[in-house]
Amino acid sequence: MDGSARERIALRTREEIARIREAGRVVWEVLEALTAVAVPGVSTAELDRFAEARTRALGGRPAFLGYRGYPACLCVSLNDEVIHGIPSPHRILAEGDVIGLDYGVVLGGWFADAARTLPVGRVSEEAARLLAVTRRALSRAIAAALPGAHLGDLGAAVQALAEEEGYSVVRDFVGHGIGRRLHEPPQVPNYGSPGAGVRLRAGMVLALEPMLNAGTGEVRTLDDDWTAVTADGRLSAHFEHTVAVTENGPEILTLPEGWDDHANRPAAEGPGPGSERRE
Ligand code: MF3
Ligand code: CO
Repeated sequence: MDGSARERIALRTREEIARIREAGRVVWEVLEALTAVAVPGVSTAELDRFAEARTRALGGRPAFLGYRGYPACLCVSLNDEVIHGIPSPHRILAEGDVIGLDYGVVLGGWFADAARTLPVGRVSEEAARLLAVTRRALSRAIAAALPGAHLGDLGAAVQALAEEEGYSVVRDFVGHGIGRRLHEPPQVPNYGSPGAGVRLRAGMVLALEPMLNAGTGEVRTLDDDWTAVTADGRLSAHFEHTVAVTENGPEILTLPEGWDDHANRPAAEGPGPGSERRE
């Protein structure tokens, strides 16, 4: 057993969480910008260079570059690729592709990590449904990240939704604690039983990252030693946020404060004179 298995789960202060949020803001800025430029004809290497330039302009550093020898800044996983796709000048985005963008930043010694999967142009209805369900799976995991809850509650929430919708959870990769390093304890599986596993406490910061496959959950790694693909060649999707567990509920650190992730705009203010409550 390596020592990390017994390493404690860090509890971050309000100030520390605010620093992680600053790193998370850069992650979000870069993913938003990438979302606009991920169009047919662009190579995945161009996306990587774009992400690096944006990050450095914002004062951050790409967290994945050199991590365990990873050769790029961004992970770009297309279609049947699950995660850890290496950008290449030879991979050109095409209409109908599904593109997973996974990005991490270190800023002032603090890490944040997030991912989203996007349609390139128009995609099949089957692809669009997988993306929508995977995004909801992440929202469910986030909603379960409350003080006193168990890690298994998060995994169970993801697994239940995935299976209800006829999809499979990838088990070979998990979410993780994050803060001073990209990967800290605990590991956060996207499957499990309610009430099982470590009990969450305010101050824990977790990268929650469900990966759902249209077919079986089985994956294999390509000869580049990084790219994980579905064993059956069917589509996969991945969404991730860095989330703080707090007494006020889960706080997503890889979104601007008060942002509505699903509508992708600032959340509506509370009902005021003449305003209607949004559903
Ligand atoms: N979000 C992924 C993870 O937490 C990305 C890591 S890519 C790597 O594992 F290159 F840094 F490994
Ligand atoms: Co991660």
